[in-house]
Amino acid sequence: MSFRNYKDKIDEGDTVILYLSNNVHAIDVKPEIKNKKGEMVENVFQTTFGALKVKNLIGVEYGSKVELSKGWGHVLQPTPELWSVTLPHRTQIIYTPDISMILMQLDLVPGCSVIEAGTGSGSLTHALIRRVRPRGHVYTFDFHEHRANIARDEFEAHGLAEFVTAKHRDVLEEGFGDDLDGKADAVFLDLPSPWAGVPHAAVAIKEDGGRFCSFSPCIEQVQRTCLALKEHGFQELATMEVLQTEVKVSRRTIPVRDLSFLKHKGSENPVDEKPTSDAHYVVGTWPTSTPGHTGYLTVATLPPIFIRGRTC
Ligand SMILES: C[S@@+](CC[C@H](N)C(=O)[O-])C[C@H]1O[C@@H](n2cnc3c(N)ncnc32)[C@H](O)[C@@H]1O
Repeated sequence: MSFRNYKDKIDEGDTVILYLSNNVHAIDVKPEIKNKKGEMVENVFQTTFGALKVKNLIGVEYGSKVELSKGWGHVLQPTPELWSVTLPHRTQIIYTPDISMILMQLDLVPGCSVIEAGTGSGSLTHALIRRVRPRGHVYTFDFHEHRANIARDEFEAHGLAEFVTAKHRDVLEEGFGDDLDGKADAVFLDLPSPWAGVPHAAVAIKEDGGRFCSFSPCIEQVQRTCLALKEHGFQELATMEVLQTEVKVSRRTIPVRDLSFLKHKGSENPVDEKPTSDAHYVVGTWPTSTPGHTGYLTVATLPPIFIRGRTC
């Protein structure tokens, strides 16, 4: 339940983030787990700094330093950001730099209803839930039944079930369901063929209008999605890429000539030249190239129903 509210101490059943200097892990706080033979055994979590007896975490304050058999780490409460870097991968996932842009572009605030397909590993879903709760709701769909079921169990275990409905459904074949027609403030698609989901998004978005965003690795997917968006009355189309850049900070020592003799003597006679001295600077250098393409975000607005079809 540790995703739901801030709390002081770790309870049995919480998901805890173990933060090490070289790694970060999510641990379910269960004193015992099943081994390969199906027997219940003590839950001992192995890390590069040695073993941690998970039962010893119960009652420990969040943020505390905990001893491992060969070192130490810190136990933190999970956030969507920490969950994205520790969750069990069932699919490729969307990470925090893209997620932050998606949340802003979808114009989400607490109270919004947002539709997501596919659910995948639930990385984005956790961030969507945090943004729209407590009165808003996330409707998330995946056509892979096992994935949809695991995601639903995970939301339940994280204490988030009341803010999210996770369904097994092929949204390209069946849409999002009649019960969601005209109910969504925003629709997000992370599917191989997002253009085929655009007509369903247009039906699901409220009469007052709303926002659309899709995530696609390839520009050909973007092109087809933009054509479909235009065809279905979306406006303000834009495609963007979020690239994270690391600025390398280093110390540089640069030799500096002392030219003060020029001011005094008005000549540039090398005989009068004073020796160079070293100046020390802290400098930031930007990389010459920016690797790290994840995907293109295509965003658009469906205007209110009374002006749909008009060109602005
Ligand atoms: C890349 S994953 C989504 C990852 C997710 N955004 C995250 O951050 O964890 C794409 C998911 O879409 C699902 N999917 C693909 N086509 C679908 C369809 N027509 N209807 C519903 N889900 C679909 C796949 O089963 C897969 O789980």
